[in-house]
Amino acid sequence: ENEKRVLMVIFGGSGDLAHRKLYPALFELYLKGQLDQHFAVIGTARRPWTHDYFRQTVAENLQAGTAAQQQAFVGHFYYQSHDVQDADHYIILKKLIDTLDEQYQLHGNRIFYMAMRPALFGTIAAHLKSEHLLSASGFNRLIIEKPFGHDYQSALALNDAVISTFARDQVYRIDHYLGKEMVQNIPYLRFDNPLMAAVWNHDYIDNIQITLAEKLGVEERGGYYETAGALRDMVQNHIMQIIAMLAMPRPADNTDQAITAARREVFTHLHQYDATEIPRKFIRGQYGPSEDGQALGYRQEDKIDPKSNVETFVAGEIQLDLPQWQGVPFYVRTGKRLPLKKTRIDVVFKSAAQNLFGSETLAAPVLTIEVEPEMGLTWHLNAKEVGQSTSAIQRPLHFALSQTEAGQVPDAYERLILEAINGRRSNFVSWQDMSGAWQFIDGIRQVWEECQCPHFPNYPAGTMGPAASDQLLQASGRHWIFTN
Ligand code: BG6
Repeated sequence: ENEKRVLMVIFGGSGDLAHRKLYPALFELYLKGQLDQHFAVIGTARRPWTHDYFRQTVAENLQAGTAAQQQAFVGHFYYQSHDVQDADHYIILKKLIDTLDEQYQLHGNRIFYMAMRPALFGTIAAHLKSEHLLSASGFNRLIIEKPFGHDYQSALALNDAVISTFARDQVYRIDHYLGKEMVQNIPYLRFDNPLMAAVWNHDYIDNIQITLAEKLGVEERGGYYETAGALRDMVQNHIMQIIAMLAMPRPADNTDQAITAARREVFTHLHQYDATEIPRKFIRGQYGPSEDGQALGYRQEDKIDPKSNVETFVAGEIQLDLPQWQGVPFYVRTGKRLPLKKTRIDVVFKSAAQNLFGSETLAAPVLTIEVEPEMGLTWHLNAKEVGQSTSAIQRPLHFALSQTEAGQVPDAYERLILEAINGRRSNFVSWQDMSGAWQFIDGIRQVWEECQCPHFPNYPAGTMGPAASDQLLQASGRHWIFTN
């Protein structure tokens, strides 16, 4: 029970992420009794807010619970106006931390949460150390939000800054896709079914397709997005982590060490392309206005350079230099302003080499994992067509989470924050994984930057991306299983 005692210090505590995601997630934990009276939250940011004003802003973003529960919950919140560059402010912060530790009997358990611009992580980490904000008793942990750098070099510099204060096993790098129900379900499917484990390799799998389609555009985040683009925003992190879940070897056991080691196998065996191969293996897109003129093009959005060459769509082929995956392409794609929100994985199995019953067309069996918004699994298998016919048709074996079950699925942040409080690290991103993913992404980015040749915009808002995305698979006689 000692573990459930915790003080969270949130840098960027007045921000959008904290209000939209973190505080509601903490509230859920509170309502479920996973946090009880022994917790406190300090929000820090530059703005000169009072505790009361802060509590009010937190409460405004809570949807669950009763008004009384909300009030009791926000009573645990404190605000400290803070200039992260100013050493004196850390002394004031330390006093507040010590007072709250005593008041709520937190036994020195601390989580520092960086929910702000990464440019300041290093400064904050250094001051936490020099002004002795880490406790001597209890645990000290650091949760870091993305973006963790914008390339390998900047990520390395950030990491060096962070690990000069925190030990490697105190650092929790969040990728919220690792907190999604159906992503966490992948290892159960693979490793708890000997049947699946037996066919989960290049003998039986032809290719794997990962689609992270978004209906939304860049909304109010144009400033950030202009420095990022889809490759950094979605591929470097979320898509790579999904690949790791799909491709990692079976971990020796269910410990953090074993799972981290299994995942590392994937990140250290990403096949590196020659620069000359990259234009054939990775393609990019940017949305223009929708065909009906209703939706703006990317270049017309708020805070976007009207000549921007930032990509809002990426499709690519990733290969792993692991014997189990020899010759199996992982096709990935993601984009903004596609027709719908859809996160799904299609595992395309090999077709029968011989068609015993003479069916004219025998489709490849496909296992579809629906991650969001639907949550479920469908296995499309060949079966006999009913009646006198000798043909085969595809039949789905299917399950979907019921509405009740879906309602029980915790938000990714709620799940991951609880895991961090419990000191469970296997669903956080290790530095090895992070650096492997950045090096891979940097290779693509460099080729793209050298060639100022994107003819943007190249897909209308509301469509599934540029034609080159389809051509990527057609080149090897394949196609995207999911079409809209
Ligand atoms: C974030 C990206 O990491 O993930 C956003 O920065 C994106 O651009 C979001 O919209 C998608 O997350 P989800 O959970 O809505 O699929």
